[in-house]
Amino acid sequence: MLEPKMRNELLREELVRQNSQALLGGGSERIEKQHKAGKLTARERIELLLDPGTFVEMDRFRTHRCLNFGMQDKQNLGDGVVTGFGQVEGRQIFLYAQDFTVFGGSLSETVAQKICKIYEMAMKTGAPVVGLSDSGGARIQEGVASLAGYADIFCKNTLASGLIPQISVIMGPSAGGAVYSPALTDFILMVRDTSYMFLTGPDVIKTVTHEEVTMEELGGASTHNTKSGVAHFAYDDDMQAIGAVRTLLSYLPSNNAENPPSITCHDSPERREEKLKTLIPDKPNRPYDVRDVLRAVVDDKHIFEVQQYFAQNIVIAFARMMGKAVGIVANQPQVLAGALDINASDKAARFVRFCDCFNIPILTFVDVPGFLPGTEQEYGGVIRHGAKLLYAYAEATVPKITIILRKAYGGAYCVMGPKHLRADFNFALPTAEIAVMGAEGAVNIIMREEISKAQDKKQRFQELVADYTGQFQNPYKAAELGYIDEVILPEEMRPRFCQALLLLQNKRDTLPPKKHGNIPL
Ligand code: HXC
Repeated sequence: MLEPKMRNELLREELVRQNSQALLGGGSERIEKQHKAGKLTARERIELLLDPGTFVEMDRFRTHRCLNFGMQDKQNLGDGVVTGFGQVEGRQIFLYAQDFTVFGGSLSETVAQKICKIYEMAMKTGAPVVGLSDSGGARIQEGVASLAGYADIFCKNTLASGLIPQISVIMGPSAGGAVYSPALTDFILMVRDTSYMFLTGPDVIKTVTHEEVTMEELGGASTHNTKSGVAHFAYDDDMQAIGAVRTLLSYLPSNNAENPPSITCHDSPERREEKLKTLIPDKPNRPYDVRDVLRAVVDDKHIFEVQQYFAQNIVIAFARMMGKAVGIVANQPQVLAGALDINASDKAARFVRFCDCFNIPILTFVDVPGFLPGTEQEYGGVIRHGAKLLYAYAEATVPKITIILRKAYGGAYCVMGPKHLRADFNFALPTAEIAVMGAEGAVNIIMREEISKAQDKKQRFQELVADYTGQFQNPYKAAELGYIDEVILPEEMRPRFCQALLLLQNKRDTLPPKKHGNIPL
């Protein structure tokens, strides 16, 4: 029998030994390999993400239960994922980081259970979940137990959607059905050159379709940030990506029952930005970068753009007004003249819905000539996709403030946060043109006969265009009808928006009781 004091010491030593074994993951050789590949380890990533000293690990000693293929002799404490909770800027978050050094971060039944456990805690306590993905997918040795684990996670992602913010960072492979967990979360960040996402890899593609494509072309950060729109952000390395997660979280409340955090603002709400007098060109077809307008309006001239490389004809961004987060949707006249299309509609609709889930007011800046015409768009279902944006705006109950900068034509007027979709304040600048279509198109259709009878057809056409422009291409017809609450000067944008936001800070609005609506997906 050992002396009680000695026994205590041995027990303590055992804990130290177990802890240090767990901290090594798949061992120093594999850690070195991970570093050589330009990637940090799961634990290094967690350290960067959280405020120093706040990480509390859960399930550090859990192991897999697989007995196939000699797996019983290959055990790593914690298995292929590190899970737990900690703080970002003093606020609680839950997180998991897949550990590529343990069976390539593949997902075993145990890994899935660890992830589901932190999801349950996060949902109960109302804290965001951040998932750092670096995984070879389903643990091949475990078969269907691993697939079941994935499906359990997908279910948790879905139940947590709209309740707590969910952020995924892809920092290595994410292949097969594994991509669906990130896809179900609110934001995906990817790391250039080291991360990729695809359902079926290059080899399978080659066998089935004879198409040859590299991993990077198929599912790298650039592909998903520019072409597919699956990802929302792209960064050069792990460190940058993790820094961006911290920034993103700073705009978000911890759950749907809270308001976004407020920071001290030194930018006066009364600031009148003289630059705005000339930023929007007089000529209706001259392009400009709408981001210059946004920056001139928001706190400290800073916007945090989301999906900046995808569907660039619309800009979505977080910013702050009087220290509080707002979501911005703005047509971008610099790309496709700001016309709406399938991708722009999807991009903006999902963002509007995100903001609405998490009590973030929406500011909409309109300069849109209409929907992009063409068979590609029609065959691709632009009707269905455009309807998503309509639906999102109509359904949103957060404060909604819209300003028409220049063009608001046709169906696009109806879509971009107008009064009719329950916007609270609708402003227009004197440069606004609100009409069914541009003057030339309108005259060509409704005055065809008159022009054909005129002696000087060109001159008559120009007269009629000028007449139509004078009558309809201005903000005053819409203001007469109450669709525009006020026509304001460009330099007044910030003070008026701040005033409106203050007025709306206690806004309460509801939807008719129902199980849920049926957005045209
Ligand atoms: C078990 C795995 C594994 C997996 C990798 N490993 N993937 N073990 N299950 N899915 C192990 C490797 O055996 C190796 O072990 C270690 O992890 C590192 O892998 P490497 O191949 O050496 O690394 P690398 O060269 O960087 O290649 C990474 C990789 C490759 C591209 C991810 O490992 C790979 O193709 N893995 C298989 C991917 C896959 O097909 N997964 C199933 C997808 S289907 P050692 O001991 O040698 O270090 C799927 C269905 C989900 O996920 C459905 C949900 C609905």
